[in-house]
Amino acid sequence: MIEIHDLRKEYRRGAETVLACSVRELRVAPGEQLALMGRSGCGKTTLLNVIAGIQRPTSGTVAVCGTDLATLSEGGLDRFRARHVGIVFQTFNLLQPFTALENVMLGAVFGGRADARHRARAQELLERVGLGDRLAHRPRELSIGQQQRVAMCRALIHEPELVLADEPLGNQDRETGTRVLEMLLEIARDEGRTVVMVTHDPESARLMQRTIDLKTLREAS
Ligand SMILES: Nc1ncnc2c1ncn2[C@@H]1O[C@H](COP(=O)(O)OP(=O)(O)O)[C@@H](O)[C@H]1O
Ligand SMILES: [Mg+2]
Repeated sequence: MIEIHDLRKEYRRGAETVLACSVRELRVAPGEQLALMGRSGCGKTTLLNVIAGIQRPTSGTVAVCGTDLATLSEGGLDRFRARHVGIVFQTFNLLQPFTALENVMLGAVFGGRADARHRARAQELLERVGLGDRLAHRPRELSIGQQQRVAMCRALIHEPELVLADEPLGNQDRETGTRVLEMLLEIARDEGRTVVMVTHDPESARLMQRTIDLKTLREAS
């Protein structure tokens, strides 16, 4: 599902070069549930962005679903993401003017193909995470945990092979966060989707099949 070799992502800051992320090799199998851990600033968000095709690596190869991302144009990357990748952002990025149901459906609009089938799937997903009676609520009318569940449903609406989540448990209490994460993992397992999640929380990491500390992936230097 993911194959990375000799990846480096650097930023130029004036005369200085900052190495944001370095991965010698990483392979993630289809259907796998992987936790990425590591101290703040070690490059977890950068790595997720590179896998999602949101940021281009400075060097190295990144293949997702069998496609070398370097072969895709900017527009090609957008289409690739809309087809194959679902993302749960740390801050959820829900759109305030829209209802929970609409926010979930918007995840399919970016793929250019939201239709009646997507409305039905959006409703089904929201019901599955216990929000069947909150379809018409706007994000500010929902608790943080509920907003997080909406964000997860939005990441799943277009049936992506790969789901990426960046510390999705944020600042809510652990018990709520763990329950919400269990819902995501259960849906992903039932539907055969691969999940890569960044987390600080060892308890959440234990729910995943495999845990990797990013610093162990760095090339020896
Ligand atoms: N746009 C940028 N310009 C310069 N340095 C950056 C930029 N974005 C991130 N970095 C640096 O890259 C490193 C990795 O950042 P990040 O991937 O956000 O880490 P994490 O998610 O593990 O906390 C950090 O040291 C950060 O300061
Ligand atoms: Mg981060």
